[in-house]
Amino acid sequence: MNNFISASIIAADFWNLEKEFKELNKTKIKLIHYDIMDGHFVPNITIGSCELDSLVNKSKIGLDLHFMVENPDHIVPFFVEKYKNTTVKNITVHSEVCVNIKKLSRLVKKHGIGFGLAINPKTSINRIIENLKYIDLALVMTVEPGFAGQSLIKSCLTKISKLNSYLKKNNLDIPIQVDGGIKLDNISKLKEVGSNIIVSGTGIFNTKNYKKTVDEMDKIINEDL
Ligand code: DX5
Ligand code: ZN
Repeated sequence: MNNFISASIIAADFWNLEKEFKELNKTKIKLIHYDIMDGHFVPNITIGSCELDSLVNKSKIGLDLHFMVENPDHIVPFFVEKYKNTTVKNITVHSEVCVNIKKLSRLVKKHGIGFGLAINPKTSINRIIENLKYIDLALVMTVEPGFAGQSLIKSCLTKISKLNSYLKKNNLDIPIQVDGGIKLDNISKLKEVGSNIIVSGTGIFNTKNYKKTVDEMDKIINEDL
């Protein structure tokens, strides 16, 4: 499996999003991560379909939607209908609140979009393991969702390692995405436990040269151990 970096856009400079996109186009990132927060599932409200309308199809880099909302079963179908056949590549919802994972997964995949399932730091990895047949990616949060710029919670590494062993033992080719508090100085720890898609917000946007930062991150996440 090819490991890669994804940039979390809520950490970008929203005054200059066009410029930010141009800079991201120069890097090796394979996805732009888009955090949708509703003020209920998490104590913050971020961006939704208005902003997405401006960003979709503006770059060859695919968009990866991370829904931190209380009612994904209700909201996601509208987004699928609106953004099918666009640069939206994945839709990820939280296992803590998704009522019918099988039904939602079927709907998302039917429209050619990958379906991801996420767990919070305090949620058991078994929530992902018991739903593997429905998902295209597993998102293990490494901070409590809600804000960019937090520190990585180290205890989450054990869960990533457990999931990685399970996937290997069962010959399953499902990427493990990790999100929250990941920067150049700790990315090797994520690599060691078997992470495949590294989401980084402030770890990229708070640096001067995104291309250089992503090149270095990409090298670490793809090196042979
Ligand atoms: C947290 C979000 C993350 C966040 C990452 O709730 O899901 O995607 O923006 O930002 P950093 O890398 O700064 O923690
Ligand atoms: Zn996220």
